[in-house]
Amino acid sequence: MPDPRPATPEEAADVGGMHAANRAAWDEAAERYEGWFDEAVMLIKAGGSNLFPVEEDLIGDLRGRCRRAIHLQCAGGRDTLSLWNLGAATVVGVDFSPRMLDLARRLTAATGAPATWVEADVLDTPHELDGTADLVYTGRGAILWLQDLDRWAAVLRRLLAPDGRLVIFDGHPAEWLFDGDGEGGWTLTAYDYFAGAEASRGWAPEYIDRLSIEDDEQHLKFARAWTLGEIVTALLGAGLRLERVTEHPVDWWAGHRDVRADERGRVPLSFSVVARRD
Ligand SMILES: C[S@@+](CC[C@H](N)C(=O)[O-])C[C@H]1O[C@@H](n2cnc3c(N)ncnc32)[C@H](O)[C@@H]1O
Repeated sequence: MPDPRPATPEEAADVGGMHAANRAAWDEAAERYEGWFDEAVMLIKAGGSNLFPVEEDLIGDLRGRCRRAIHLQCAGGRDTLSLWNLGAATVVGVDFSPRMLDLARRLTAATGAPATWVEADVLDTPHELDGTADLVYTGRGAILWLQDLDRWAAVLRRLLAPDGRLVIFDGHPAEWLFDGDGEGGWTLTAYDYFAGAEASRGWAPEYIDRLSIEDDEQHLKFARAWTLGEIVTALLGAGLRLERVTEHPVDWWAGHRDVRADERGRVPLSFSVVARRD
């Protein structure tokens, strides 16, 4: 996997351009999710959930109290339909990758779930969904791909029904500063916490890994570790009332399996937010 490089000033100024690149890169990465499809069908049909226990605790039992859950950056729909199995009457998934949504539609066909799939950049989520979500959920591995947090937070706010809840569970930005030292402990990476977007090709071996397209022929993609301060400030600025902001040692993408559990437990690897409309 080639090393990431900082986005150039021209790239960093072009949010639409970075998102277009990410869309192409995620469409390539959907290849990996295609390999997980049969597993996803079995899980959802069996009434199971792909969400982490910490996420289920935050979301709670949705039976009888969630007419519509909207899942932003839903990928192949496995987590979205997990919300259905947790009791949401209907679910909506939004993602910009056509190949991911093709998988989501196949998952719906195989399970009969009451789901609607919307192909859109999350920043342009259609206004017809405004005010309709009893739950807006955004989960593991979403925020790092977004290049305009104020626009994102405004979307979260406008989707919520008057009594709706927002639940976020995602990677903690501090995680970017640490890596396994090969002996079960941590070492500091070269990542600059305040540097902004970085560009890369290829994917981490612990997650998407190698695809049928060679790493250096894949589309460029842009990710960044938004600081917790930037995230919270964007949510507050959009008119959301934060009920809880929690940091967790939960290794949300199994990216640090080589680090001993006791060592892992002393670094914040994920965080969550529960919020409502102000
Ligand atoms: C790591 S995956 C999310 C995984 C998710 N927790 C799951 O497995 O259901 C990130 C997803 O975000 C989507 N994505 C990234 N940037 C996006 C954007 N600006 N608008 C819509 N979708 C986006 C990608 O297509 C991909 O499906």
